[in-house]
This record gives sequence, structure tokens and C-alpha cells, in this order.
Amino acid sequence: MKPKKQFQAPKGTFDILPEDQKYWEKVRKVVKHVALGYGFERIDTPILEDAELFSLSEGETTDVVEKQMYTFRTKGGDVVALRPEGTPSIMRAYVERGMTNAPQPVKLYYLAPMFRYEQPQAGRYRQHHQAGLEVIGDQNPIYDAQIISMCIAVGVELGLKNLNVEINSLGCPKCRPAYRTQLARYFKARAPRLCKDCKRRLKYNPLRLLDCKEEQCQELKANAPNLIDSLCQECHDHFKAVLEYLDELAVPYALNPHLVRGFDYYTKTVFELFLEDEHAEGGSEKTHERSRLALGGGGRYDALGKILSGKDVPAAGAGIGMERLIGVMKKQGVKIPPLYRPEVFLAQLGAFARKKSLKLFEELRHSGIMVAESFGKDSIKAQLRSADRAGVKITLILGQKEAIDGVILMRDMETGAQESVELEKIVKVIKEKLKK
Ligand code: HAM
Repeated sequence: MKPKKQFQAPKGTFDILPEDQKYWEKVRKVVKHVALGYGFERIDTPILEDAELFSLSEGETTDVVEKQMYTFRTKGGDVVALRPEGTPSIMRAYVERGMTNAPQPVKLYYLAPMFRYEQPQAGRYRQHHQAGLEVIGDQNPIYDAQIISMCIAVGVELGLKNLNVEINSLGCPKCRPAYRTQLARYFKARAPRLCKDCKRRLKYNPLRLLDCKEEQCQELKANAPNLIDSLCQECHDHFKAVLEYLDELAVPYALNPHLVRGFDYYTKTVFELFLEDEHAEGGSEKTHERSRLALGGGGRYDALGKILSGKDVPAAGAGIGMERLIGVMKKQGVKIPPLYRPEVFLAQLGAFARKKSLKLFEELRHSGIMVAESFGKDSIKAQLRSADRAGVKITLILGQKEAIDGVILMRDMETGAQESVELEKIVKVIKEKLKK
């Protein structure tokens, strides 16, 4: 019968198949290890949030809010969104769940899927996963540096090479408006040469022009005034301290005065994590600009707490793209052992033996021995083929006669030597054999 429809995963989403799970497990493990090492505790928030949480937090005119949110009305009439990122949800939880009363700063991490309606391409998906880190309740620049250092630590513990951080300061509501005006003046004078999007951006968010990837805007961008030159004393000192801490930690970084990031909530430090060698890879500077994907990014967002709670809540954080990390792990040939590595194969012959094998399988598993089986197969030949394929060290064969006599055949797969062992003693014997 022909199926009514050939279903496919929605565009821009994908299945994580068993052969890839080892990479995902490894990334989760490393993130947990780094996060705990720095005193971060795990938080999980709902995938759905009030859609306004994101538009208020990120800014109405950001790409994510304008074009990329999965927003819908529920049967009850609420307008909700699939979260495009974690930061607003974490700040919402911090305010809502009384974490303001906990010892500050509150350090949280998460591993979670995010949803953005983007044009899918390599490294850019409609459902992606982030490892997020947030330090809430402290404005000290040492936390900006620590967050950046943690991103590097995750990469290093995963065995990645050539990681580099690009960093900038976006100033604060005191110094940014004057820079914004200066920047708008600069681009307005050159408006006819801007791309269509930038002409629009110029009206409501001139800072975003610095983020434009279109070729025609690159040259104009290169000569635009720098925000760093316009920072107020407080932002200047804060940024200087962050860089000094990074130097102290020997974190590799480069100043990028055009780094602006995609959300309005950022203040002071912003950064992105890249692979250094991508700078050197073929193609012109321009094509390189267009194709470069950040492995992670973040910064300080002292303005967000005020939007959500009415009070000043300084904070800093980062999000690391798990798909992109895994892409680099594969590209750089990081070797990860398979998650499922059975040591013993249990083969059986005949109905009585099969019944007995079931219990033996449980005993072996309980004692911590990883056992493979093909209980559904009757032929011993087919089972031995499976044992070979599984790459086990030992194969146990329980035939009808052995099952009746209370013994089992144990075959060493390396030497081919075979011996009969009492069923009662088999767990102990295998454990000793595996130890060797
Ligand atoms: P973001 O830069 O939008 O920041 O995302 C963080 C990382 O998630 C990116 O650097 C990238 O690796 C990955 N990523 C983002 N979008 C996609 C996509 N469509 N497909 C694949 N990977 C993607 C944030 O989301 C902020 N919440 C980070 C932050 C935390 N800032 C402060 N605290």
C-alpha cells in the first residue's frame, strides 16, 4: 500500500541519529563539567513563552523578533512563541522565581533547543540547540571575562583548536545615543550606496548597519566611526578591565569594533567565538565575511533586568551553538568513542536456552557488563555473525544441552579458545576475564 504522504522533518530541522549521539553526549558532558566547575547550576525553562517576553527583551526591530519568531495564538487566546534564545526566559525565571533574594550573582546554565525561522543553510537551522551560560546580579567585569573564558574552556575540553574571541563594547544608555547619532549621520551621507536592508535599518537602528554582511556595505562599514572611541568613562574602564582579565587568563581575543550582535538588550561587552583559521581560509575578505559563522556569542545585558523587573539587574552571559560545535569537532577530526560498546555477546540455541538466556542477560547487565544479543534469531551462525559485527571480546553460547546441565560455552573472540563454565560462576569469570 502506498503511504498517503511521504513525511519529512520540517525544513531547517533534522533528526539526531544514533551515530551522531556520541558527539551530542560529549558536548553535554563537557558543558556540564565546565559549568559545574565554575559554580553554575542547571536551569530548564519552557520551550514556549509569552511572545512579548522576546519582543520586549530583544527589541521590536531585531531580525529575530521581526522575521524569525515562531509565534502563534493558543486555543485559550494567549500569544506564545517558541523560544528563539534562552536569555529572556532565564531573566524571566530569575525575576519570577525569587532568585533576586538568593546570594548574588546567580549563575545558571542550560542545554536547550531554540527556534528561529531562518533561511536554512549549513550551520543555520530553524531548530538549533544552545549551551547557555548566564551570570545574573553582578556588574563586575570579571564575570564578562569568566563567561568568555568558559566558552573557550568548552571548546578546549572538546579538543577544538584555533578558537578565537572577537570582542567589542557597545557602551551603555549614557554613551550610546551620541554614538548612534554620529553613526546615523555618517551612513545618511552615504545612503545611496547602502543595501536595501541597511537603508531601512538606518531609520530605526543604525548600529545594526555595522552587522551587515552585504558586499556593498563592507567598504562603508570599514570607515565608519568606532563606538570604542565614544565610550563614557565607566564603560571605558569596564571594557579595559575585561580585556585585562582576558590577558591574565591568556584567552585569545581580537578587538572587532563592528561587532554589534543581534539583540537590543546588550550593554558594554559583546563577543563572539570563532575559529581562527577561518580568517586564513581561501576566498576574499568579503566572501569570508559573508560565510563566517560564530560558534557562540554573548555579552553583558545590564538593561534586560530593568525591562522585566523594573529594577537594575546587571547580567552577562553566552550562548554556544551545539550544532556548530559538533560541525567543528567533525571537521577537526576529534575522535569520540562510540557510546554503545558491548563487551560480551550472548548467543542461544533452542527454546529452553533462549528462556534461560533472558535471565542471564539481566544478571550480566545488573553486574555492569555490557551485553549484546540477537534473541530474535534462531540460527547460531547468524548470531555469531552479529557477535563479530559487535566487536565483543567474549561470546557466550547457551545450547539446549548446556542449559539443562547448568553450564555455558565461553568463547574468547580474539584467540578463538572456547571453554565450558558453570552458569552460576559465569558473571565472576567474565568480570575477571574483562579486567585482564
Ligand atoms: P546568538 O548569537 O543569537 O546569541 O546565538 C548563540 C549561538 O547559537 C550562535 O553563536 C550560534 O552558534 C548559535 N545559533 C544561533 N542561531 C542559530 C541557527 N539558526 N542555527 C544554528 N546555530 C545557531 C543568543 O542567542 C544569546 N541568548 C546569547 C547570550 C546569552 N547572550 C547573553 N547570554
